[in-house]
Amino acid sequence: MAERRGPEPRLALPFLLLLAVTAARAGDARQEQAVRALARRLLGPRAAAVSLSVDPALAAGGPDTYRLWSPPGPAVAVAVTGSSGVAAAAGLYRYLRDFCGCHLSWSGAQLRLPDPLPRLRAEIRAAAPGRYRYYQNVCAQSYSFAWWDWARWEREIDWMALSGINLAPAFAGQEAVWQRVYRNLGLNQSEIDKYFTGPAFLAWNRMGNLRRWAGPLPPAWHFKQLYLQYRIVERMRSLGMTTVLPAFAGHSLPRGVFPRVNATRLGHWSHFDCTYSCIYLLDPEDPMFQVIGTLFLKELIKEFGTDHVYSADTFNEMTPLSSDPAYLSRVSSAVFKSMTGADPKALWLMQGWLFQHQPDFWQPAQVRALLHGVPLGRMIVLDLFAESKPVYQWTESFYGQPFIWCMLHNFGGNHGLFGTVEAINHGPFAARHFPNSTMVGTGLVPEGIEQNDMVYELMNELGWRQEPLDLPSWVSRYAERRYGAPNAAAASAWRLLLRSVYNCTGVCVNHNRSPLVHRPSLHMDTELWYNTSDVYEAWRLLLSAGAELGSSPTFLYDLVDVTRQAAQQLVSDYYLSIHQAFQSHALPELLTAGGVLVYDLLPELDSLLSSHSLFLLGRWLENARAMATSDQEAEQYELNARNQVTLWGPSGNILDYANKQLGGLVLDYYTVRWSLFVSALVESLNSGRPFHQDQFNQAVFQVERGFIYNKKRYPAVPAGDTMEISRKLFLKYYPSALRHSLAGPA
Ligand SMILES: *[C@@H]1O[C@H](CO)[C@@H](O)[C@H](O)[C@H]1NC(C)=O
Ligand SMILES: *[C@@H]1O[C@H](CO)[C@@H](O)[C@H](O)[C@H]1NC(C)=O
Ligand SMILES: *[C@@H]1O[C@H](CO)[C@@H](O)[C@H](O)[C@H]1NC(C)=O
Ligand SMILES: *[C@@H]1O[C@H](CO)[C@@H](O)[C@H](O)[C@H]1NC(C)=O
Ligand SMILES: *[C@@H]1O[C@H](CO)[C@@H](O)[C@H](O)[C@H]1NC(C)=O
Repeated sequence: MAERRGPEPRLALPFLLLLAVTAARAGDARQEQAVRALARRLLGPRAAAVSLSVDPALAAGGPDTYRLWSPPGPAVAVAVTGSSGVAAAAGLYRYLRDFCGCHLSWSGAQLRLPDPLPRLRAEIRAAAPGRYRYYQNVCAQSYSFAWWDWARWEREIDWMALSGINLAPAFAGQEAVWQRVYRNLGLNQSEIDKYFTGPAFLAWNRMGNLRRWAGPLPPAWHFKQLYLQYRIVERMRSLGMTTVLPAFAGHSLPRGVFPRVNATRLGHWSHFDCTYSCIYLLDPEDPMFQVIGTLFLKELIKEFGTDHVYSADTFNEMTPLSSDPAYLSRVSSAVFKSMTGADPKALWLMQGWLFQHQPDFWQPAQVRALLHGVPLGRMIVLDLFAESKPVYQWTESFYGQPFIWCMLHNFGGNHGLFGTVEAINHGPFAARHFPNSTMVGTGLVPEGIEQNDMVYELMNELGWRQEPLDLPSWVSRYAERRYGAPNAAAASAWRLLLRSVYNCTGVCVNHNRSPLVHRPSLHMDTELWYNTSDVYEAWRLLLSAGAELGSSPTFLYDLVDVTRQAAQQLVSDYYLSIHQAFQSHALPELLTAGGVLVYDLLPELDSLLSSHSLFLLGRWLENARAMATSDQEAEQYELNARNQVTLWGPSGNILDYANKQLGGLVLDYYTVRWSLFVSALVESLNSGRPFHQDQFNQAVFQVERGFIYNKKRYPAVPAGDTMEISRKLFLKYYPSALRHSLAGPA
């Protein structure tokens, strides 16, 4: 039976409501002060030659706008006015980027300013093409931000402002508020302790996927996170950003609540059994739904204030109890009602991941029902993976609910050069021109950050543009700004990377599938979307630029990253040789390929990574320990940190999902695993007994688990000369690499 529906109100209503909700947060004077303070943090005394001001009238009620010009007189080189603090910061970055040749990224800043600062010949005025530039994936809270202190948060918020981000979650400290709510509802501490996961897994506890694993949360954790959250929301708002706070989605229920409510246990999540998953979902009609939801949000607002935007995901990677559209509408209505119970102006920000994750369940009728449980314009959907699997296209633009076109790009915070530059260069513009489009902005939603800076810089720039860029010339300028000097070899290297690793077309999923970072077997994936010789050639070109650019920190970062990518390609080649030697019972060849891989290539890669501060396992682990207030907490946090990047669960439940190529991890985890594999194959050939993957898996699990508990302290400071190590690897491996790639796919 066809679903009955009346005429749908379009655009006008949603957009009016969005305007109402995003009325000015901090006063203009406060935003002005905040953006000036940012400029001083960034530029030091040189900030004096830049005049920054905030004038909401500049936007005339439309999207964020900035204006740059050079006033007469020698004191001020450039004046920047923004319609908000964020718009002014974006204008400042535009000036630094396009006129001073500067660059700011996760892996470092290149802020060598011309002296005197250049003056503009003509005024520049830019308006964002949409209302929102969104940033952050809920998973990044765990994969990247888990151990951040205020200094690191401050840098990130500065980067967000300069990138023009004006909408972002502020999720820290929510467990402290939940704990208060649970206590009010009569739960005792041991019931609560059996619910929260450890710090490195909170993202999935919040989404109703996981409970208890690697927990509980110590009291000091809550205090520290509350402290951070106060500072985060204060800073974001002072710059004119809209904070997104968490809200009740129906599943944040420790078991003690159950006798009194109608809650249904959902199925298990991913490869976890019910020991750590199978969360309970409250019936949307149960009166306690509103009580709990409103109580939580009121407590949260009392603590942190609000900008009226709330995030909730009821069915993230979880199959609903029923596909009856009426049920799905009841659920979303209940979630929204519990929001408005605490804040009548509430706007619900929802991840649209579920629709493309379980497309069999989420047919048009189900999607429409969930979305229409909320008045049009009171919800914003994040089209989370729009660069590869846009949902707006098959849902008539989310059936009238506003949406943000988001680039997901990264899974699990994996290293690995990757990009879908054509999709992000054209996707947002196509989405805006889609019939009856309800698109209200663009977003960056990587599961983990601090990788592939180029892609994020590109996406941020596109967030302010009215049409696509010319990519090859853009990337050449990118290289120049990033290294602070024009260099033909470096520009060529980047153009090669652009057309190869960064140009994945079709449905591309950036999960690093390299054999390097996965448990060895005889069935590993070595397929790639690009021509590997482009990466080897980029490596050669970067090395040749080393004499000129070797003092640039961002250059050294990229040299490590490209060398790492080349090494990862080489690992695939050695794996294929090992595989072939084993199949053809060629013991000497197996020993040679296995020996080079285990005793040379991987250890050399480890020393390369160990030479750069941003590729150290020790940094991740020491940051975890630094959050602790006792030895016991330090142990717990470190185990959290180690487990997340390896086994992901007690028994390798989501094994290697969040793999990283870090100095220390490559040697003591990946290499040991490969060594065991090569030994097992050699043993099999020697004894004539077949290789059994199951037996190997049991043995290798002991190695993986052993790494987590090895008690070794890894250095958090780099050692060794990056250029020298990269060059050594190059001299040893480049010719063979070229042979492999020129031979084409086997
Ligand atoms: C907490 O409540 C549970 C019942 O849900 C009970 O078994 C336990 O003894 C209580 N713990 C404390 C410390 O009161
Ligand atoms: C309990 O919740 C389930 C699922 O939400 C619902 O189907 C059922 O009717 C509810 N039972 C009662 C007694 O309300
Ligand atoms: C766009 O909206 C109008 C008015 O609601 C409707 O008549 C038209 O069919 C829609 N177009 C598409 C392609 O959905
Ligand atoms: C990416 O590849 C496509 C073909 O798959 C090509 O048309 C396009 O020009 C390439 N883009 C870049 C930047 O190299
Ligand atoms: C990869 O690129 C190299 C160098 O440009 C070229 O010689 C080779 O044919 C390409 N391989 C494939 C499979 O396209």
